[in-house]
Amino acid sequence: MTPRPLVVAVDGPGSSGKSTVGALAAERLGFRFCDTGLFYRAAAWLALHRHVPLDDGPALAALVPLLELESDRRGRYVRVRADGREVTALVHRPSIDRVVSEVARQPELRAALLSRQRVLARDGSIVVAGRDIGTVVLPDADVKIYLDASLAERARRRRLERGIRDDERDGTEARLVLDDLRKRDAIDSGREMAPLRIARDAIVIRTDGFELSEAVDAVVRAVLERTREPAPEAGTP
Ligand code: DC
Repeated sequence: MTPRPLVVAVDGPGSSGKSTVGALAAERLGFRFCDTGLFYRAAAWLALHRHVPLDDGPALAALVPLLELESDRRGRYVRVRADGREVTALVHRPSIDRVVSEVARQPELRAALLSRQRVLARDGSIVVAGRDIGTVVLPDADVKIYLDASLAERARRRRLERGIRDDERDGTEARLVLDDLRKRDAIDSGREMAPLRIARDAIVIRTDGFELSEAVDAVVRAVLERTREPAPEAGTP
C-alpha cells in the first residue's frame, strides 16, 4: 500500500544511518529522498576551495545560491554540485568531515538553507534526512523519526564505510574516526541555532545491533503505523 503524499523527517547524529536507511525506506514507500547534509558538506567544500573563513557566516550564506542538489532517476537527492562542479565524492572525504560542523553552526548559513530545503519537500512523498528537519526545517512533517546509535557503533559503521580496520596498524585512524564523531556530536548538539534535538513528537529508533534491513523495516513500519492512526477529532487536545 502506498500511503498518501507524506513528509517524513529523519534526524539523528552523524553515521546513525540516516542517509542509507532513509534512502532505502523511501524506496520501499515509493517516496523521494533528500539528504540535507549534502548542502552543508558542499558549503564547507566550496568555502575551503574559495578560501572563505569557516566561521564567516554571511560569506558562507553567500555561497548558498551556488549549491545545487541533484536527484537521480528515482527521485533521490543524493548528489550535489557546487559552483557547477559535481562534488558528491569530494564532500564525503575526511577533510570535510572535520570542518563541516563548524560551517553548519553558522546561523547565517542555516538561515539561507532553510527555504532551499523546504522547497524540496513542498510536494510531499519524500523522506528528508538531517539534524533539524523535524524540529526546525519541517516542524509540520507528518512523521518524525530520530535514528540513533551508540558512538562506538556509529564509529564502527564509519570505519567500514571508509575501509579503515580497527587493528594495530590502523589503530590511530580508527581512533581519529571516533574522536571526529564525538567532536561533531558536541558541535551539532551544542550550537545555538537549530541544535540536534529529538523532536517532541519523534519516534526514536535505536539501531545498535540492527542489520541494515532491520533498520529500514523499523522506519517503514513506523511510517505506516503513524499514518494509519486516525486523525484526532477537531477540538481534541
Ligand atoms: O549528515 P551529515 O554527516 O552528512 O551532515 C554533515 C554536517 O551537516 C553535520 O555536521 C551536521 C550538519 N547538518 C545540519 O546541521 N543540519 C542538517 N539538516 C543536516 C546536516
